[in-house]
Amino acid sequence: MKILIVGSGAREHAIAWSLYKDSRVEKIFVAPGNGGISQMGPNVENVAIKATDIDGLIEFSKTNAIDLVVVGPEQPLELGIVNEFEKHNIKIFGPSKEAAQLETSKSYAKNLMKHLSIPTAAFLIFRTHREASAYFHEQDQYPQVIKASGLAGGKGVTIAESKAEALMTLIDLFENKKHGDAANEVIIEECMTGQEASIFAITDGKSYKLLSPAQDHKRIGEGDTGKNTGGMGAYAPPPTFIVNDDVIEKVKKQIIEPVLTFMSEEGNPYKGFLYVGLMIENNQPRVVEFNARLGDPEAQVVLPLLKTSLLDLILASVEERLSDETIELLPKTAATVVMASGGYPDEYKTGNEIIGLDRINNEKGLMVFHAGTRSENSHLVTSGGRVLSVTAIGDTLKEALSHAYRGIEKISFAGAYYRKDIGQKGL
Ligand code: AMP
Ligand code: GLY
Repeated sequence: MKILIVGSGAREHAIAWSLYKDSRVEKIFVAPGNGGISQMGPNVENVAIKATDIDGLIEFSKTNAIDLVVVGPEQPLELGIVNEFEKHNIKIFGPSKEAAQLETSKSYAKNLMKHLSIPTAAFLIFRTHREASAYFHEQDQYPQVIKASGLAGGKGVTIAESKAEALMTLIDLFENKKHGDAANEVIIEECMTGQEASIFAITDGKSYKLLSPAQDHKRIGEGDTGKNTGGMGAYAPPPTFIVNDDVIEKVKKQIIEPVLTFMSEEGNPYKGFLYVGLMIENNQPRVVEFNARLGDPEAQVVLPLLKTSLLDLILASVEERLSDETIELLPKTAATVVMASGGYPDEYKTGNEIIGLDRINNEKGLMVFHAGTRSENSHLVTSGGRVLSVTAIGDTLKEALSHAYRGIEKISFAGAYYRKDIGQKGL
């Protein structure tokens, strides 16, 4: 089979790594890919087409007789990449533009949750600055959560600690257009407390299977401080004091099943990966957000724990026969630590040579997934904010973490930054 993976991050590298293990896969193309993906082997190639250039991707797929397309990030989903490929009868894995609204429109997701009585934060939706600020003038209870409804690269959420901060945030969203049209609708939400965790399902629109749950670390600083990032590290599965069978059962019955049934009845069956971001308190999960894809860095721990062939699951989803599949997970723990360019999530330098990767090649249970890397004069250099994601597998979380950190200490580049406390919440 010839497969095209769309995207360029460590998540897409992990998807490529997972699919490459399958003997039926003869060739993998990744558009646009990164410096690490192109070094995976002779049958893996980067293609210089942007993830959002849907016409270009369709043309490439036709010319190269691609059998299956797997979409990593959310932007092409919002543009309707799945709808377009289906028009050309090319097999593609992911939700349609309409189904992806679960992620691409928070107002759609919140209204759907309200309609189905799915546990989530209480909310209001505002379309004008005047009405939203009038609301805050009446409010004395803080913190309150303010969100742009549309996609904002993980930066659209503010937890306002005071009325002044809330009013400033509204100016940024409505007047300064900080997130452009993504903030034409603004959600104001109750601030939930508890432990965050993510649950991942793969679905064919009717039935679904769960991958391992995981816990991400979104803030740049140790102790979950500082700015929000795409994610600085993750581990899977979380311990049972965070996610246990009772919580999983509630997520299935109170969240995933009502959503899939409703979307299917509405004529927008949800196919692909469904990421349920949760806040869990006293064993009760509440939805923070849905994403229409795997998480990054969560994919880098969830996929290495998958014993079943990812290709089998993806094909079963596309061909709507997932109920016949069984899913097996390795009874291990995986941890990943993200190495980022100093300055991220704000300004950072690129073009710094990455040294030491050869020192961890072939080390058992250790995998380096690349994100912002590219080849330059036969050297690997940094090319983005999040640069590498170093994953290790262990019998325990402690073992996985110490293995991942031993790996990361062998790698260096100018200005490298990583959090030293990944996984501490789970110990
Ligand atoms: P999101 O982009 O919706 O995932 O939000 C980013 C982060 O903001 C989440 O991972 C949470 O840490 C936090 N967050 C979002 N909504 C809420 C909420 N209603 N209560 C508490 N924290 C929230
Ligand atoms: N790590 C969070 C996300 O992928 O949205």
